Amino acid sequence: MLYRQMPKNEDELSILGFGCMRLPVKEDGTIDEERARNQVRYAIDNGVNYVDTAWPYHMSASEPFLGRALADGYREKVKLATKLPSWLLESREDMDKFLNAQLERLKTDHIDYYLVHGLAGKVWDKLEALGVTDFLDKAKADGRIVNAGFSFHGSIEDFKRIVDAYPWTFCQIQYNFMDEKHQAGTEGLEYAASKGMGVIIMEPLLGGNLASPVPAEVEDIWNEAAVKRTPAEWAFRWVWNHPEVTVVLSGMNKESQVEENLKIADEAYPNSLTEAEIQLISRVEKKYCQLMKIGCTGCEYCMPCPSGVNIPECFSIYNDLHMFGNLEGSRFTYAVSMSGVFTNTKPGGFASQCIECGQCMEKCPQGLKIPDLLKEVAEELEGPDLEQRLAMAKQLFANK
Ligand SMILES: NC(=O)c1ccc[n+]([C@@H]2O[C@H](COP(=O)([O-])OP(=O)(O)OC[C@H]3O[C@@H](n4cnc5c(N)ncnc54)[C@H](OP(=O)(O)O)[C@@H]3O)[C@@H](O)[C@H]2O)c1
Ligand code: SF4
Ligand code: SF4
Repeated sequence: MLYRQMPKNEDELSILGFGCMRLPVKEDGTIDEERARNQVRYAIDNGVNYVDTAWPYHMSASEPFLGRALADGYREKVKLATKLPSWLLESREDMDKFLNAQLERLKTDHIDYYLVHGLAGKVWDKLEALGVTDFLDKAKADGRIVNAGFSFHGSIEDFKRIVDAYPWTFCQIQYNFMDEKHQAGTEGLEYAASKGMGVIIMEPLLGGNLASPVPAEVEDIWNEAAVKRTPAEWAFRWVWNHPEVTVVLSGMNKESQVEENLKIADEAYPNSLTEAEIQLISRVEKKYCQLMKIGCTGCEYCMPCPSGVNIPECFSIYNDLHMFGNLEGSRFTYAVSMSGVFTNTKPGGFASQCIECGQCMEKCPQGLKIPDLLKEVAEELEGPDLEQRLAMAKQLFANK
């Protein structure tokens, strides 16, 4: 495991951090606690010393899980990061209430890296008015938090404004080879680093989209590389190639992913990619831009939809359709997914259920025009045969 120093303190942090937003789950959707605990502990035993969670992850079950997973001496081996749920705050008192509850959930008396979660311009303005800087100062002074930071999903202008608004130790941004000019992007990464901040990276694989499945056109480009690497490795190495990056978080949920990512983190030095490799990655980026219709990362911030639309699932199947071009296959996958056969519920989640209330758009970190995009999804993936495909899905899977 390689380590990089947090610029404003002495912490040597593992370049791979464990993100606890996509832990392995059981059939009923709850965390598969044994597997998840084993994965987290295995990663720590193999050098990971930064673990990231947040109040809402896994329907609020990630923090309590991590509190249990970090028993038996594991808490002392890591720097623990969690986040103040900015959208749930109505008063200055709420901030202490959430932090104190998080300390209890995580079974600890301090959070090493505490982030104000999911900032963008307007949220920051509201929190500043509610007294968030006073809260952070006091929580640092009384030892409940050690380092203050923020995670960000807004524009570069707002990013710089927030960086300059408080003596942050660090920030967390979405960054991967598709996001150079998106959100904080490369400009934000360099700006934060120039101010002496550590930068934690989230979504290095664009929520897994860059790892698999890989469209044939993209695979062809990867195959041209002199050194053979998996698409996940190329994406991670691209992020770690930037010396301004401190830690890259990965939402791992399979043992093989933990193994692979640990191995890459043994070797991914800054500025270690050759010019030819950087050019190759740039060609892949251009190819994806041609293929991917919707830049949805599956973060689920838009959920739940009051009308019951399964927004990320609709976009994921729609993107697959445009990457692989299998219309019948994608239509059937859509029908199976929305049929309720696996959850023993009525069919639901369809794009056509959207009533255009607009609630989801305010929450989408990618700024997607969700209702418009859902119309396209409904047009291509539903159609007159939907009922027939739903019946077929039931027939095939209902007795499973
Ligand atoms: N503060 C915020 O606003 C915010 C937002 C997003 C994320 N985060 C944090 O950042 C962490 C990282 O983000 P992320 O989970 O979106 O990261 P990511 O690396 O972009 O995506 C994670 C997904 O990538 C796939 N994956 C990981 N390693 C792989 C490998 N070696 N080979 C193939 N596929 C691999 C897995 O997909 P499959 O599940 O499909 O196998 C996994 O679920 C999160 O877990 C969370 O802690 C914070
Ligand atoms: S705009 Fe459509 S998808 Fe978005 S929350 Fe409203 S009903 Fe749901
Ligand atoms: S539509 Fe936006 S908020 Fe919803 S899952 Fe996709 S990226 Fe996340």
